[in-house]
Amino acid sequence: MSFADLKVQYDALCREIAEHEHAYYVLAQPKLSDQAFDRLYRQLVDFESDHPDLKSPDSPTQRVGGQPLEGFTSVRHQVPMMSLDNTYSQDEVRDFVNRVSKLLPEETLDWTVEPKVDGVALSLRYEQGRLALGTTRGDGIQGDDITANIRTIRSVPLTLATGDASPPERLEVRGEVFMTKEGFAKLNAERREAGEPSFVNPRNSAAGSLKQLDPQLVAARPLDIIVYAIARFQATAQPSPASQLDSLECLRQFGFKTPDRIWHCHSADDLLRVIEELGHLKHSFAYETDGAVIKLNRIALHQRVGATAKAPRWAMAFKYAAEQAETILSAITIQVGRTGALTPVAELEPVFVGGTTVSRATLHNEEELRRKDIRIGDTVVVEKAGEIIPAVVRVVMDQRQPDAAPFEFPGVCPECQTPVTREEGQKAGGVVIRCENPDCPAQVRERLEHWCSRGAMDIEGGGQVLIQKLVERGLASNLAELYQLKLEEVAALERMAEKSAQNFLDGLEASKQRDLWRLVFGLGILHVGAGVAKTLGQNYPDLFQLMDATEDQLVAIDEIGEVIAASLVNWFGEPAHQELIAKLERAGLNFKSALYQPEMTSGPCSGQIFVLTGTLPTLTRSEASAKIEKAGGKVSSSVSKKTDFVVAGTEAGSKLEKAKKLDLRILSEDEFLDLIRQEPDSAPSR
Ligand code: IVH
Repeated sequence: MSFADLKVQYDALCREIAEHEHAYYVLAQPKLSDQAFDRLYRQLVDFESDHPDLKSPDSPTQRVGGQPLEGFTSVRHQVPMMSLDNTYSQDEVRDFVNRVSKLLPEETLDWTVEPKVDGVALSLRYEQGRLALGTTRGDGIQGDDITANIRTIRSVPLTLATGDASPPERLEVRGEVFMTKEGFAKLNAERREAGEPSFVNPRNSAAGSLKQLDPQLVAARPLDIIVYAIARFQATAQPSPASQLDSLECLRQFGFKTPDRIWHCHSADDLLRVIEELGHLKHSFAYETDGAVIKLNRIALHQRVGATAKAPRWAMAFKYAAEQAETILSAITIQVGRTGALTPVAELEPVFVGGTTVSRATLHNEEELRRKDIRIGDTVVVEKAGEIIPAVVRVVMDQRQPDAAPFEFPGVCPECQTPVTREEGQKAGGVVIRCENPDCPAQVRERLEHWCSRGAMDIEGGGQVLIQKLVERGLASNLAELYQLKLEEVAALERMAEKSAQNFLDGLEASKQRDLWRLVFGLGILHVGAGVAKTLGQNYPDLFQLMDATEDQLVAIDEIGEVIAASLVNWFGEPAHQELIAKLERAGLNFKSALYQPEMTSGPCSGQIFVLTGTLPTLTRSEASAKIEKAGGKVSSSVSKKTDFVVAGTEAGSKLEKAKKLDLRILSEDEFLDLIRQEPDSAPSR
């Protein structure tokens, strides 16, 4: 096939996949099953590895960049990013309409209303239809270039969908990056599972995610985007949209996700009615909505009414009062988690807010307590943050009792009185205060509960109440002791029927057969969530081999970083933990992994990671890859410290540069063939 024909075929495949991504991520109407999509995607990956010179930076495979950035560069916005004037008052909405009407006395005005997405403002620039730049708002004049992070968001088109028409030469759009309520809840659950501090709300976690320097990390966060305005439209072939309604339609056509609902209004009464309707509807949106944005529909009028230094005069945000209530904070208790992390909790006089009665709220951490200056006995404002979790918003200062003293975070664990340690959070989330006593009853309880939980060893009957009693009575102080329990002991516990006791023992017996990843997750090692445990299960045939792994070997596994590797090696290095494992083995637990995918261990390249770059004299990429895999090695697409060899042909570009910088071993095709001790003619025919 000629180069030109291949290119046509390649572009068509890219476009087809981009269309499916649009159907899935923007429209939420997938046209293919996940499997069929994966197959198509795989086809593109193979195509690109066979024809690296065709590979386009706009390809759907190129969303996640290879290496972390050193920092973000600051860029000046070509059109400033303004904010909006806010109001909570209906009268001010009427005032706003009157004000604009007076400025445009001869015009009949119409308006749009759309949800105010509670996320992080973003500007996207497209040049010749290709995504060229994504920036944060910054101070409105200058923001950070976060293009690499934005590209990982699958609902962001890398190229504009214009069909056969030519794209605008330049397009700059504005929107909001957010985390869905569901994605946020899931992310926080995972972080808690892995013993990491949780995020305060979806907006903070979206903002924190965008600040990450490693696009790989960003890609793992459930981020999404809604685009709601065109800031600049430069096209010779078509006029720019004349109204906000047309703008949103145009943006939809280009492939952007636009607000869930948009209303067209003709009077202040109309606006107020719609604002109320949106106030009810917003609960059903996937994202947090903190208000309604009112915009003058006709764009040509925007210039005529102008803007203040900060905000346009043709738009305004009506903010919904968060569902809040005042109550007394009667105590601050400290919760000790499974990994020993101490979390302050507000004990509240029960109060009805946002549809439920709230009597406890997390205070997150010591910094948060100090920042808000929360003291016992204070009257506080409680809010359903993110409509999910109750939070203490602020203290009503003029009701503070004169004798209220600042809260002193305890220097010792409230459960076992061991002095606490302070550790700078390794991922986002500030300082973690920890009780390091492994025998702390609170930790023991949490560990046993975690072990029994559905996501881990899935032990029937092993709920919170039972575990608490077992620990209180001293019947179980570690995981292994669960397997020594006798029926009489369990049945003798308060309000325990013999049948339930038997159920629990049967549950324990059944758990002995669980797969290795459940056991590893169940051990509750810091930073080792269920996902990491599965990855480990795929890479190690049994627990003993995992225990023997060094940090370097662990880090060589895709998806295992230094923090996780160090945590594993530390944990398995503890004599107490080794003893626990020995006891679990004696109790008859399964240590083998059903997920393990044996790698060739006998091949000359077993366990080694290769990167291919440039054009090799005789081998195609597929042939070279097949040889590496046959010899027990792995092929990776990006060069990093984990790479063992880079096989470089002609026209090897940035990967070769990088390999030289990292001082990696670089091989020619001949040297490569020598290394794997295979003859060129043994290549599989294609
Ligand atoms: S229009 C010239 N529309 O709210 C102002 N903004 O408080 C253009 N926001 O900076 C903004 N949803 O980050 C507009 N549908 C929407 C919005 C929206 C959320 C954010 C945006 C803006 C902030 C102002």
